Amino acid sequence: MQTTQFQSAVGIAHPIVQGPMNGASPPALAAAVSNAGGLGSCAAALLAPSAILETAAQLRGLTDKPFNMNLFLLPELQTPPALEQAQALLQPIREELGLPPAQTPLRFSENCRDQIAALLEAAPPVASFTFGLLDAQVVRQFRKKDIQVIGTATTVAEARAWEEAGADFICALGAEAGGHRATFLGDFEQSCIGLMALVPQVTHAVKVPVIAAGGLMSGRGIAAAMLLGAQAAQMGTAFLCCPESGIAPAWRAALAAAHDDGTRLTRSFSGRWARGIVNEFMEHMRPYEQVLPAYPVQNALTTELRQAATRAGRSEFMSLWAGQGVAMGRPMPAAQLVDTLVEELRLAR
Ligand SMILES: Cc1cc2nc3c(=O)[nH]c(=O)nc-3n(C[C@H](O)[C@H](O)[C@H](O)COP(=O)(O)O)c2cc1C
Repeated sequence: MQTTQFQSAVGIAHPIVQGPMNGASPPALAAAVSNAGGLGSCAAALLAPSAILETAAQLRGLTDKPFNMNLFLLPELQTPPALEQAQALLQPIREELGLPPAQTPLRFSENCRDQIAALLEAAPPVASFTFGLLDAQVVRQFRKKDIQVIGTATTVAEARAWEEAGADFICALGAEAGGHRATFLGDFEQSCIGLMALVPQVTHAVKVPVIAAGGLMSGRGIAAAMLLGAQAAQMGTAFLCCPESGIAPAWRAALAAAHDDGTRLTRSFSGRWARGIVNEFMEHMRPYEQVLPAYPVQNALTTELRQAATRAGRSEFMSLWAGQGVAMGRPMPAAQLVDTLVEELRLAR
């Protein structure tokens, strides 16, 4: 099989990226994918700077192959958010889960600038970013340390902005994708572009290699994305089904039971639009979706509730992130999944 420019630049055997997944992409998963010849990724958005360094060290202990670490790019909160209404909406569910009345979180997220500094120090071979855009000068700092940069884009304008900032690669994220939308420039709804339409337009607009993400679950899917101009496929939901993702049994069961129409986008869990399997929490919060505080505030307000639900195996209150291809998920070890995808891709080409 022909090696793409992306594969050569990163130094991987296969055009397969395991997408970073908060809470579901531990070093064991990323290393298994990298060792199998793909690019494994660890989500670092919720990690403190010291944990970012520890995670990079763990990864280096598990693989000598290239790997990726990922951050959310968030502006600093300017004014203290109004919390009363959002907390009141969550109170009945807290009671149902036996939680005491909510305390105001001391802070809502890690400091993004400190995380970027830690990632520069950790120096993974590849760093990917979502929710925003790095300054060209910061991208240069990554490049100086031989860290290749992937910028996530949901529109042509976002892809061009990342290319102008100096990103090495663009991850084009289709509307089918599981987890959070990456949109940072345009209107969120207008930026929900299906992958079949997004990939050819992005590859036409930028010169750097494009990675396609969203709804890809098989070698045929990867082949289709590559036929449209992508040089690799980034897959989240497919790898979520692997035992190494370490997700809770209730989430795994929900993945196994989901159908093609089982997911939708919601702001209810985090304050940012994200795709997950529809459950009672999403339905309960649906009427208030537009008035909830933005990420990371709502995310912080629901953290304790989601953790309690996970401990209790109550999937009706958990954030069950998954993409529209979820019903095609195949629970198997990550290395086996990479091998299977490679063989399917070979047959499809
Ligand atoms: C549970 C979950 C968590 C995710 N967390 C992140 C993240 O922290 N950073 C990121 O850039 N993308 C994140 N994503 C997106 C994936 O990396 C990937 O782009 C996406 O899952 C591709 O769509 P698919 O799920 O249809 O394969 C997440 C996706 C899922 C399903």
